[in-house]
Amino acid sequence: MTATVPGAVGAALARLEGPEKVTGAARYAAEYRQEDVAYGWIVHSPVPRGRLNAVLADPAADALAVLWHGNAPRLEPADDPELDVLQSDRISYRGQPVALVVAATLEEARRAAQVVQLDIAAEEHDTVLRADHPGLYTPEKVNPAFPADTSQGDIEAALRDAPFTVDVTYRTPALHNNAMEPHATIARWDGDDLVLFDSNQHPSGIAAAVGTVFGLPPERVHVVTEHVGGGFGSKGSARPNAVLAALAAKVVGRPVKVVLPRQAMFSLVGYRTPTIQRIRLGAGPDGVLNAIDHVAIEQTSRLYEFAEQTTVATRHMYAAANRRTGHRLVRLDMPTPRWMRAPGEAPGMVGLECAIDELAEKLDLDPIELRIRNEPPVEPESGTPFTSRHFVQCLREGAERFGWAGRDPRPRQRREGDWWIGTGVAGAIYPTMAQPSAARARDLGDGSFEVSIAAADIGTGARTILAQIAADALGVPVERVRIRIGDSTLPKASVAGGSSGSASWGWAVTGACRELRDSGRAEAVFDSTEQVNQQEKDGRHAFGAHFAEVRVDAVTGEVRVSRLFGMYAAGRILNPRTARSQFLGGMIMGMGMALHEEGVLDPDMGQWVNHDLAEYHIPAHADVESIDAEWLDEQDEKINPMGSKGIGEIGIVGSPAAIVNAVWHATGIRVRDLPVRLDKLLAS
Ligand code: MOS
Repeated sequence: MTATVPGAVGAALARLEGPEKVTGAARYAAEYRQEDVAYGWIVHSPVPRGRLNAVLADPAADALAVLWHGNAPRLEPADDPELDVLQSDRISYRGQPVALVVAATLEEARRAAQVVQLDIAAEEHDTVLRADHPGLYTPEKVNPAFPADTSQGDIEAALRDAPFTVDVTYRTPALHNNAMEPHATIARWDGDDLVLFDSNQHPSGIAAAVGTVFGLPPERVHVVTEHVGGGFGSKGSARPNAVLAALAAKVVGRPVKVVLPRQAMFSLVGYRTPTIQRIRLGAGPDGVLNAIDHVAIEQTSRLYEFAEQTTVATRHMYAAANRRTGHRLVRLDMPTPRWMRAPGEAPGMVGLECAIDELAEKLDLDPIELRIRNEPPVEPESGTPFTSRHFVQCLREGAERFGWAGRDPRPRQRREGDWWIGTGVAGAIYPTMAQPSAARARDLGDGSFEVSIAAADIGTGARTILAQIAADALGVPVERVRIRIGDSTLPKASVAGGSSGSASWGWAVTGACRELRDSGRAEAVFDSTEQVNQQEKDGRHAFGAHFAEVRVDAVTGEVRVSRLFGMYAAGRILNPRTARSQFLGGMIMGMGMALHEEGVLDPDMGQWVNHDLAEYHIPAHADVESIDAEWLDEQDEKINPMGSKGIGEIGIVGSPAAIVNAVWHATGIRVRDLPVRLDKLLAS
């Protein structure tokens, strides 16, 4: 049987749930009506380190329960110690939940939480990341399982002998995930079974993790995650709100809702670790690199080792016979850093791609040409061929569309009125991953089909894309496919993370639909585990090039991004409409990383002082002037059955560097600690 319908994949289909979302009919986790629901309000530790001796609740406050480690039910140990909530007197970071107040209304819960008294023995704390911290160590692995250090050739000798070198240190600040929809859970016990309405990126994973702490197998935890208002990595694993809600519901015998206020997003959901990156490059006069050295210093918490893979992208970008990458970590009395869109690649490529720009300046060579001269024939460290790599084409084609030709390479040359104008470029890379998943396809007998998988659509368009993939695999128009996702009772799916959703779930959906079609049965289930595990691990990446034009006010130092352009090679684009939105979203977040976003730490308090969206700045509409994304028609038969690469994260990889490089081109000033604030431009 062959498909006679024009392919749904590749069509610019609008999001299937769009009308529901814009009319307010789409339900998010906190919006499910539950009979007799109670409200939980978290009491956060006011100190970064110490012991909680007692919690004194005001008996006059209208609380149903004030839970803390002195009275909370015991939980089974979690894989992630941050889910062992209210189990210990140990305080490991400021903002850690030390109590949960439960009341019949939100206002009563919040009021009672405000008057709770904490008896805390505070201890000396250490919250500042620095390059000479005595506690720095080399982790065994960096996320998810890469060696912390790699080395080839003789890096020191190569740098010593290189006619042209760069030795620079770039710093990126702590960055905070702030999805529009904050983390939220409603927990309800049905006998010994748990139901969670929870905002997350991984219903199957949340069921397993929360099940573990309550001693329940995953199938006894029903996680409902129909719509999610963004995640960016912060909802990739269960957060304390899910366990707290379930714990409280057990104690008060009613459903309990716990919604994080915006301020709590700055301590409870992870953040992007600050980094201090030293990059050394050595090249000949022709620009051919002989040495690449990139070592990142970053932080983790006392509770949990989160080792971000900051310099792993550097292992795959450019050829050089002598090379070294590494990671050093220090445990601080701070919240645990976690995933934030392109964790590792986004900060790491700031260091590498800005250093490459600095080398181009020294060589008096066009930065695009410099990159092209160092294009590797195979993956530089592993020697594995790329399934496809069109980085040079992205640079060339992107340069053409952006209008790079004729650029005066010298900085501080173009002035229009009060504005210095400059342009910059940077490369982009993101690994193409797929995780095992399962899907079920059913022939409903009326010419329509139902396809089910426990995937989460966090706003990316996953639901729509899966319908397109299913339609083509079944050989029917997309209108005849009904997709069910967002529920842990559906066939088990991998996380909506690592830009791997479409590949992972699409693989399983394709398998189930083909099997249904070929077998002629009414139902087929497909589990991709075996096929996915057979994949070669190396050599699988999407590539891109980012181009920025900025203007910098000579008087005030204000930076405006007049143009931002991304040119990508990311395999088959499954839906140009939702893809474009992913690319642009990533690039705008990259603009935030370059110019706006910064967690400002008060070392005495051990707290991010700008823990709200009034003071933690993100790009607003007015900051985006002209922005666009284009892509090559890249064919990659080896990568997966769809030929698609992930696109959710590559937009934030390299776009910050392109802007920083453009700021240098405009002003002649290299800002090496992000974000590029106007005071840093005015100081010199
Ligand atoms: Mo993404 S940081 O892998 O959700």
